[in-house]
Amino acid sequence: MSQPNTPFHLSSVVREHLVPSPTLAINEQVQRMWADGETVYHLGFGESRFPVHPKIQEALRANVHQKSYLAGQGLFELREAAARAYSRRLGLDIAPDQVIIGPGSKSLIFAVQLALDAPLILPTPSWVSYEPQAHLLSKPTHRIPSSPAGGYVLSLDALESVTAQIESENKILLITSPDNPTGKMYDEDFLRRLADFCRQRQIVVISDEIYGLLPHTPNQHISLARFYPEGTIVLSGLSKHLSLGGWRLGVGVVPDSAEGRQLMAALKVVASEIWSTPTGPIQYAAVIAYGGDPDVVAYIDECRRIHMIRTQYLWRELAATGAACTQPQGAFYIFPNFDRWREPLAARGVHTSVDLAHYLLTEYQLATLPGSAFGAPPRDLSLRLASSYLDMETDDKAQAILDAYRANPDPDVFIRDHNPATQEAARRFHAFVGSLA
Ligand SMILES: Cc1ncc(COP(=O)(O)O)c(C=O)c1O
Repeated sequence: MSQPNTPFHLSSVVREHLVPSPTLAINEQVQRMWADGETVYHLGFGESRFPVHPKIQEALRANVHQKSYLAGQGLFELREAAARAYSRRLGLDIAPDQVIIGPGSKSLIFAVQLALDAPLILPTPSWVSYEPQAHLLSKPTHRIPSSPAGGYVLSLDALESVTAQIESENKILLITSPDNPTGKMYDEDFLRRLADFCRQRQIVVISDEIYGLLPHTPNQHISLARFYPEGTIVLSGLSKHLSLGGWRLGVGVVPDSAEGRQLMAALKVVASEIWSTPTGPIQYAAVIAYGGDPDVVAYIDECRRIHMIRTQYLWRELAATGAACTQPQGAFYIFPNFDRWREPLAARGVHTSVDLAHYLLTEYQLATLPGSAFGAPPRDLSLRLASSYLDMETDDKAQAILDAYRANPDPDVFIRDHNPATQEAARRFHAFVGSLA
C-alpha cells in the first residue's frame, strides 16, 4: 500500500494494536450523552468517587511548595511508610528498598512487563489493560481458558495446560484479587496451591492488589506473596480505597532477593527514562495515606462498606433476573452472563457481548462494558458492571451518599432512600430480562 505523503508514520505495533482503553472510551461516550441531556445509568466506569479525606487534603496543601525532582524510586519517607503498611498486610518483613512508587499502578505494571523477558499468562477474563500493554511491548500473551458455566473460575488444571504449551522457560502469570471484572478473591487454599505450582515451574507472578483494601468482609484479602514471597511482585496504589485515581500514585513491592534487587534496578531505569519521579506534593501527601492514621483507616473502612452494600445489592438484583453471576467478594464489580437468552437475543441482532452492551445502552440507557474487552470470548454474552459511579456522579452526590450512610448505615434503608439510580438500573435489568421471556 502506498504511504500517505506525510513525515508521520505510526509504528507497526501502534497501527496493529493501539485502540483506546474501552473503560475510558465508554466513560467519554457517557459524558457526551449526558452533555446532550440524555439519561444514562453509568455502570461502565470503575472509579471510586468518595471525597478526598480531609487529612490527606491538608497534607497536599501543606506540600504544594515541594517542587523538586524526587528520587526515581520514590520519596524515601513514603517508601518507609509503605514498607511498614505492606509488612503488616503481607505478613512479611518488607524493607523500603523493596518498594517503588510510580505514577499509578498501571505504569508500574507496564514497567514490570517491560523489565521481564517472558510471555504473559492471563486468566480469562482479566482487567482490560494487561494485554494491550503486552502488545505494546511485543510480548506474547496466553489466556487461561474458563467458562461462564463454571463461573469463570481460574483452575490450576487449565493453567497447567496453558503453561505446558509455552516454549519459553520464563513465564509471568498476572493475577488480580479482588478481581476486576469478576469481584472474586482467591482464598488461602487456592493461593497455597498456586504458590506450589508457580514455585515448581519458576513462574513469576504479578499480583495486582489495587482492590486489596476493599474486600466485602473485613481482613479477608490474602496476598499470594504470603506463600510465594520469592516469586511475587505486588502492585497497588491509592486509586481505589481512597478514591484518588486522578492523583496517580501506585506502589510496587518486589521480592527480597538478588532477583528482586535486579528487577528493582531495572524498574528504576524505566522510571528514570519515562516519568523521572512521581509528582512531589502527591508523594508527600501519600505518606499519611500509608501511615496508619486512625481517621484515614476508619475512612477507608467506611468507603469499603458502602462499596460492598451497593455492589452486593446490584449482584442480588442481577442474580434474581436469572442471569448467571458469581457473587462478588470484593471491589465494586459484577460480571453477569446472559447466554441462557442467546436465542431471543439473536432475534434482536445480539450475538456478541459488544452487541449486548450496545443494545442495553440504546434500548435501556444502561452503560456497561462487554466481556470481550476483558478477554472473554466475544460470543460469551457477559458484561462487566461497576457499581461505583451510580448515584455518585458528581462530588456533591458522592458527599451526600457518604453523609446518608453515616446517618444510617442500615443497608436496606441506605439503598432504598439514597440510591435511586442504582435501583433504577436494577429495575431496567429486570425489564430487559423480562422482555426476553
Ligand atoms: C485491576 C486494576 N489494576 C490497575 C488499575 C489501575 O490503577 P492505577 O490508578 O493505580 O493506575 C485499575 C484501574 O481501574 C484496575 O482496575
